[in-house]
This record gives sequence, C-alpha cells and structure tokens, in this order.
Amino acid sequence: MSLVLIVDDIAAMREQYAYDLARLGGHETLTAAGGRAALDLLADEPIDCVILDLEMPDLDGFQVLAELKRRGLRTPVIVYTGTGSYDRCTRAVKLGAYAFLAKDEPLERVVQEVENAVQWARLRDEVSRLRRDSGKDSPLVGQSRAMQELRTRIDQLAAIPSAVLVVGESGTGKELVARQLHDRGPRARQPLVAVNGAALPESLAESELFGHEKGAFTGADRTRRGAFESADGGTLLIDEVGELPLAAQAKLLRVLETGRVTRVGGSRELRVDVRTVAATNRDLDADVHAGRFREDLLFRLNVHVIRVPALRERLSDVPLLCDHFLAVVADRFGQKPKTLLPETRERLAAHDWHRNNVRELRNVIERLVIASPGDLIGPEAIPVDLGPAPAAAGGQAGGGTLRQQKAQAERAIVLAALERHQWHITGAAADLGLADHSSLLKIMRRHGLKR
Ligand SMILES: Nc1ncnc2c1ncn2[C@@H]1O[C@H](COP(=O)(O)OP(=O)(O)OP(=O)(O)O)[C@@H](O)[C@H]1O
Ligand SMILES: [Mg+2]
Repeated sequence: MSLVLIVDDIAAMREQYAYDLARLGGHETLTAAGGRAALDLLADEPIDCVILDLEMPDLDGFQVLAELKRRGLRTPVIVYTGTGSYDRCTRAVKLGAYAFLAKDEPLERVVQEVENAVQWARLRDEVSRLRRDSGKDSPLVGQSRAMQELRTRIDQLAAIPSAVLVVGESGTGKELVARQLHDRGPRARQPLVAVNGAALPESLAESELFGHEKGAFTGADRTRRGAFESADGGTLLIDEVGELPLAAQAKLLRVLETGRVTRVGGSRELRVDVRTVAATNRDLDADVHAGRFREDLLFRLNVHVIRVPALRERLSDVPLLCDHFLAVVADRFGQKPKTLLPETRERLAAHDWHRNNVRELRNVIERLVIASPGDLIGPEAIPVDLGPAPAAAGGQAGGGTLRQQKAQAERAIVLAALERHQWHITGAAADLGLADHSSLLKIMRRHGLKR
C-alpha cells in the first residue's frame, strides 16, 4: 500500500481519483487543490507517488515539476492534461515526470501506472543504495592495494584545510584526485575553481590567479576578480603548478603564507579562505635545481603530498578500468557496452602503459569500440602501436644520470616525430599517443624545441 497525492484544482476530479485509487488499488490518498499546497505536503508527508494536473491557476504542473527538481525530491510524478496536448505531456516528461495519462483513461490503467511508478522508484533507490555501499559511484575506479591506499589518503587530507600537492605521471588521474579532495571534504558545497598553469600565457598568469584592478595594464579596462577570490570558502585547484612563471610563484607563496591576495595593480589586501590543491607531473625538485621553481614555494606545497600511482604499478586495476571505460563510451554513443574477449583483456592487462597511463587506456578502449563492428572486441583490434616502449635514442646512452638520459631520449623521440610530420603539431602529437597538441607543446617548451 502506498501513499498517493492527487493534485487538481477541480475538486470533483481529485475526489474521483482519490476514491478510485483507494477502492481499486487499496492506496492511501491525499489531495491538494494547487501547486503550492502540493509542494507543502510533499515536504512533510512520505508520499510515494503524485498524480498531477498540468493546468492549474496558481502554480501549474510544470512549475511544480521544476520545483521538485530544484529541491532534489525524487518522488515519481504522473501527469495528465485536460487539453489533450501530447506536446505538453512530453515536455512534462522531459522535466522529470515519470509518465503521463489522458484524462479519460480507464481507472484500471491509472492504478497500474501508479503501481509501476512506485515500484520503479523503489528499485531506483535500491540501486543507488547498493552503488553507494559498494563505492562504485566513486569516479576513481580501482580496487588494487595502491588505489585503496590512495582513497584513504584522500579522505585523511580532505578533512583538513591545508594545501596539498598531488604528484604523478601524466594521465594517472591527478585531476580526479584533486576533485575528490574537494568533494569529500567539508567544503564540498562551496566552489571548486580550477586554473591550469600550462594554459596561462606568462603575462596573464597573475591576473588570472589574483585578479587585477581597472587600468593595471593595457587592456585591463575593468576590475576583475582572480581565481583565489572566486574560490573563497572553497578550493582552488592549480593544475600544472610547475609551469607557473616565477613571478606568479612568488605571489602564490605570499598568498599561501598570509591568506591574503592583492590584485594586480592594486594595493588593498583581500582576505580569502581557500584550500589550495596543486598538481604536477613534473619533478619539482629537479625544477628547483634548475632554477625554474622556487624552493620556498615547494617547501610550502609539499607538506602534504599525494602520490598518484602509475597504471603499471597497479595493473590489477586494468580490467575494472576497461569495463568502466566501455560503459562510459557506450553511454556516450547511446549503445549497449561492448565486451572484450578474454585474450584482448589479457593483452591490455599485461601492457606496461608507459606513456599516458589511464588516459592512454581510455583512448585505447575508445579506439577499440570504434574499430570493432560487433559486440565482441577481439585482440586483432588492438592498435599495433601499443607495442613495447620505443627503444629510441639508445645510441647516446652512456652518459649522465637516469633523468638526464631520459630527457635526452624524450627530446630525440619528439624531434623525430616532429620531423616525420613536417612539424605539424597535431599530427605528431597523435603519432606519439599524446592526448592533444597542447601536451606536445608543453614537452617542446620544456626542451626548448622550436621549428
Ligand atoms: N582511477 C580512475 N578511474 C577512472 N578514470 C580515471 C582514473 N584515473 C584517471 N582516469 C581518467 O583518465 C583521464 C586522465 O585523468 P586526469 O586528467 O585526472 O590525469 P592527470 O594525472 O591530471 O594527467 P595530466 O598530468 O596529463 O594532467 C581522465 O579522463 C580521467 O577521468
Ligand atoms: Mg591533469
């Protein structure tokens, strides 16, 4: 037995439905003569299902649906309309109604719809509960020991307001981790503002982070709040912090120390309450040695460090990640997820994922889905370039530390790819399996490579 609310401005209509639902379906009923009264009842009573007239004088059915959505109420709603307009009904369904009825529908059908709606809502709630309990809703997929430790660390640090540095190779999920730090902490309902140090031209980095006053420089035709101010009360994610120009680094250190920002061209200090999360795939110690990163800023940032493990350190997560990305891709294409044949799965789980970690795996799955016409994905669909690590630049091995030799090899590989593509950046980036041309530009900048 369920509690059904019937909302109609015409008393005879709502009384009729209430009477029949009680008699035929054995339901308890409540009635409301308008949208406002309905919303009040929905806030107080454990209502299982609503039958809602779309045309009413005070708040109409559409407004009630919108308000339910705004309040996050998930009670299933069945709408009906006296105008017989199919368009209005489909519009209501788009707004979140579970189903629609014609006003002259036989009562048995109405009772049946109510039962379906109640049943559906129970299943939906059950699924959400199971998902929550199994932790599947967490966007960070993986059950390996390394991932479990990572989650524990995130929860520890999410609770406190100090700055955190997230480090790890490219594509390991640093940005996801940074977002989890925000979502799982006390600031979750406050803003999360993200800036990317690599995407900011040197001249704009400071104004982006700290804002500027009108007239601070040519083109500053009005005062602008910076990322720190926008993130007040919440979290500021500074991605690729290692790419920030030195002047911006100095200013960032000041803000972290004092909790106050001064806009570019301004003199007033503004208090901000911001938790800073910085991320980088660079070796900041090496950057400090090379004079590219301020040591005092690094000391300030690396009090709390989260290291995100490379995918090859947790290959046992590959199958789960494959299923996750198969589902994501299928969802995007509106298809049923395809299945990897066991051999395909084994080959992916054995690969050493040296280039772009989880991002590379995601790209490979997308390509596999597109390349496989049927529902099953065989190993022959695996791209050939997913071979072992390129053994390029081996000739010059012999001198220098591991880091220096790796840098030399990287430079040689990038150079060769650029030459193969006549310095066409997008083509070379794709060839190298990089996510996009900006990733390649970053590497080129690091090696001072220009045409
Ligand atoms: N554990 C994970 N579960 C699900 N998806 C993941 C996981 N880790 C990474 N991803 C996905 O892989 C892609 C790369 O992740 P992300 O952008 O967070 O990496 P990153 O470490 O910030 O890379 P970069 O250093 O290049 O900025 C994203 O699409 C992300 O959603
Ligand atoms: Mg990132």
